[in-house]
Amino acid sequence: MKVENTSYRTIWLSTTNDRIVRIINQLALPHRFETVDLRSVEDACFAIEQMQVRGAGLIGATAGFGIYLASLQAGNKTFDQDLIRFAEKLKSTRPTASNLAWAVDRMLDKLSSCENPDQKRETAKAEAQRIADEDAEFCRKIGRHGKKIIAEASTQKGGDTIHILTHCNAGWLAFVDYGSATAPIYAAHDSGIEVHVWVDETRPRNQGASLTCWELGQHGVPHTLVTDNLGGHLMQRGLVDMVLVGTDRTTANGDVANKIGTYLKALAAKDNNVPFYVALPSSTFDFTIRDGIKDIPIEERSPDEVTLVSGLSSSNGEWASVRHCPPQTKAKNWGFDVTPARLVDKLICERGICDASEEGILGLFPERKKSEL
Ligand code: MRU
Repeated sequence: MKVENTSYRTIWLSTTNDRIVRIINQLALPHRFETVDLRSVEDACFAIEQMQVRGAGLIGATAGFGIYLASLQAGNKTFDQDLIRFAEKLKSTRPTASNLAWAVDRMLDKLSSCENPDQKRETAKAEAQRIADEDAEFCRKIGRHGKKIIAEASTQKGGDTIHILTHCNAGWLAFVDYGSATAPIYAAHDSGIEVHVWVDETRPRNQGASLTCWELGQHGVPHTLVTDNLGGHLMQRGLVDMVLVGTDRTTANGDVANKIGTYLKALAAKDNNVPFYVALPSSTFDFTIRDGIKDIPIEERSPDEVTLVSGLSSSNGEWASVRHCPPQTKAKNWGFDVTPARLVDKLICERGICDASEEGILGLFPERKKSEL
């Protein structure tokens, strides 16, 4: 996607030194656009843990490149043991997004058939790049499929603006390119369909305010930032035509884990007959589980994210962090919640659109029928 008219992906191999992986530092957005070099698997772990990179697809792509960096660090004699150790370290960085373990396992599986460390290193580089390319391509296809839903809604409204509510950032910043929830929006906008996006600010990390607003703005998509609690009110007044969100892990029967607060949006959507869509590449499915509430590990993050609010000071323009509760106040901070499949109208995947049910998902991914279920 474009940043000030230059095309970027969120992660790429340096063109001058292929031992360096480059990322956009999302902690600096929306105030500064900067890139960071990852030179080791430790750098990759740090980037995921500290959320320089975040979002299901991008976490997966970073894990893929992380294994490539690990392969460069692994000793010739201890290659396999070293790699397993690095892989465990990567996997432990963030628990909820299934793309992380999926990418690490895919890399290890690919390397297992190589004969020697040098061949493994070459293969790791190629496979990490393949994961990144595939993520971008899958998101592009999600855009193509999802655009049809928006186009239909627009026709039904006689060409009037389609108002889409989204939560968190499931944009191109959360993937390698295009995004999941945003891909249909960009595709619709680019083809001349009038769209407007209600962006939930998404406390506590404010990915909606700082990232989704930034990337929609860069692409010229009309949008309005709203507080997390406004969605129900907007829906009651007929101001939302659809909710479109991403997901960090989706079970075999269509339960969807996404940023905390998504479930409440789905409840409000159901109560107001507003369609609730979830966009995801196949790497976000976890075909080994069927009960999202019981089986999806939910990341618990630092209470400081709740008790402190940070941003640019309105008085001096400097970065500031302020406490907005009494110093002794305790806080809890689960990062994700699970929306049961019954509240999801459709899943939008790279292969097409399906019901959020086991039958619907297997209809698109028939090869999964016997493997994990
Ligand atoms: O904690 P994050 O920022 O990594 O959370 C991921 C998200 O942005 C979402 O929940 C998103 O909607 C799905 S990930 C594509």
